[in-house]
This record gives sequence, structure tokens and C-alpha cells, in this order.
Amino acid sequence: MKIISSISEMQVFCESARNAGQKISFVPTMGYFHDGHLSLMREGRQRGNCLAISIYVNPTQFGPSEDFEKYPRDFERDKDLAAGVGVDVIFYPEDKEMYPELYQTYVNVENVTQNLCGSSRPGHFRGVTTVCAKLFNIVKPHYAIFGRKDFQQLIAIKRMVLDLNMDLDIVGMPIVREPDGLAMSSRNVYLTIEEREAALSLSRSLKIAKEMYDGGQKDVNAILEQVRKYIERHSYTNIDYAKICDTTTIKDIGRIEGEAVLALAVRINKTRLIDNYVFGTQLDI
Ligand code: PAJ
Repeated sequence: MKIISSISEMQVFCESARNAGQKISFVPTMGYFHDGHLSLMREGRQRGNCLAISIYVNPTQFGPSEDFEKYPRDFERDKDLAAGVGVDVIFYPEDKEMYPELYQTYVNVENVTQNLCGSSRPGHFRGVTTVCAKLFNIVKPHYAIFGRKDFQQLIAIKRMVLDLNMDLDIVGMPIVREPDGLAMSSRNVYLTIEEREAALSLSRSLKIAKEMYDGGQKDVNAILEQVRKYIERHSYTNIDYAKICDTTTIKDIGRIEGEAVLALAVRINKTRLIDNYVFGTQLDI
């Protein structure tokens, strides 16, 4: 397994794999791996014969009062986990390599980034789509694998790839959860035992919503009222948003007719967690 920090070296490595006829799978990450990340890498391993990943805590997607500085990092551990799932190359750049002095170009996907995390984290998606566009240009993968845990991110990336005619397939993968239902996240490490218990209210409220929907309830307000009530019953919780949106436009809807996503962002004390459930699919919580 190779570890590369220089953009030009990474481009040469990936270009020669491509020229040798290999299919390149790529998994962009911010590191501090859990099984969610590893599931994307395993999918990448299946799809391609060269598996590239990136580990880069991207400063442009963090707001000034967010956790960029204290975002968990452990490169040595990540390296071993990546080797264990058959990664061929880790791209591990520094900030000055990705955003050198005079850097001034950003990719902005407009409509689907307005709602949900777009309104509570201004500039976040601009940072995400910019770094992904850069990474896609560096790696030039055939496939890029993303988790549905960050549902709006996946939709924004798919939109960017379509709109800018980028020549790769975006693959969305199911949310990987702890046995008790908590969606895996690098940020779970911030939670105390009591906070972790309260954090279960996210996935459990999604289950309540799923049961209501499966029982015939299609009215968004009726479902959201139960979801909010359930989350608010727990200590430490503060709902940032709980919304049901169309999965293509990411706009709020009043009734669930086609495919719709229930998206949650909840602060558990200082830790902001997200989770979601897509109605009208076979996916489970
Ligand atoms: P990060 O939070 O490290 O996540 C990397 C990838 O892992 C994303 O595609 C995310 O959706 C996926 N992922 C995280 N938790 C998951 C879970 N429980 N189940 C399945 N997949 C999960 O998302 C980012 O990094 C960044 O925004 C990035 C795309 C790398 C751009 O900087």
C-alpha cells in the first residue's frame, strides 16, 4: 500500500493504473475510520482493481465555530485498517498542497444544498463539492463511493458530477450502524456514556417514523410531530432540524408520495449528529 502526499505524484500513480487498463475505485474520507468507511472501501475493492482512498480533513467545509481543529485524527490506525481491506493507495495531502496561497476557485451546487445542513452550516457544501471536484481531478476514478449517511452530500455530489459532465460513476452505500442502531460516525467518539444513550433517540425516532409510514401515515407533519416529541424526551438533545424532503430536490414536502427522506440533525450537548431514513425503498434502519 502506497501513501502519497503530493498531488502530482498521486496523479502519476493513478494515471499509470488507468493506462494499464485498471478500473479505479475511490473513497474520499476525513479519516478516523469506522465500519461505515470500511464498507465503502470493500465496495470499492469489489468494483475496481485499483482502490484509492483519501484522508483529508478539509478545512473549507468547516464553519469558523465548528470542530475542524479538534476533529479526531489517527493516521497510524487508519493506515492499518485501510491495509486490512486491500487499499492500494492513500492520498494524504497537507492543507498547503490542497489550498496553496492564491487559491480562489470553488464549486457551488445551488439548489439541493439550500435546505437541511445547507441552512445550518453555511458554506459547508461549497467546501465539500470543491474538495471532491479537486480529488476527482487528481485521482480520475471510474467509481467514487459515498455513504448515504450524509444523504444531502451524496445528492449534491451526484448533481455536481452530472452538471459538470464529470466522467465517473457515483455509488451510494447503505448507512452502517452500531448493533443498537446508532449510525457510525467519527464524531461518536465525542459522546459520553450518557450522551451516547441520548444519541440513540435519532435512529429510534427514524424507526417510529418508518412504522407510521408502513402503517399508512403519509402526512409529514403527523410523522415529524412524533419524531420531534420522541427526541425531545431525551436529555441533552437539541434538534437542529427534523424534516422530510423530496430525495431529488431536497425541498420540504407535505405528504409522502414518491421517494422521500426523513433527515435529522440533532445536537447532543455539543456534538452534532445526523441520520436519515428514506421512505419508499427497501433500505432499513
Ligand atoms: P467522512 O465523514 O470521513 O465520510 C467519508 C464517507 O464515509 C462519506 O461518504 C460518508 O457518507 C461515509 N460514511 C460516514 N459514516 C457512515 C456510515 N455510518 N455508514 C456508511 N457510510 C458512512 O463525508 C466526508 O468525510 C467528507 O465530507 C468528504 C466527502 C470526504 C469531503 O471532505
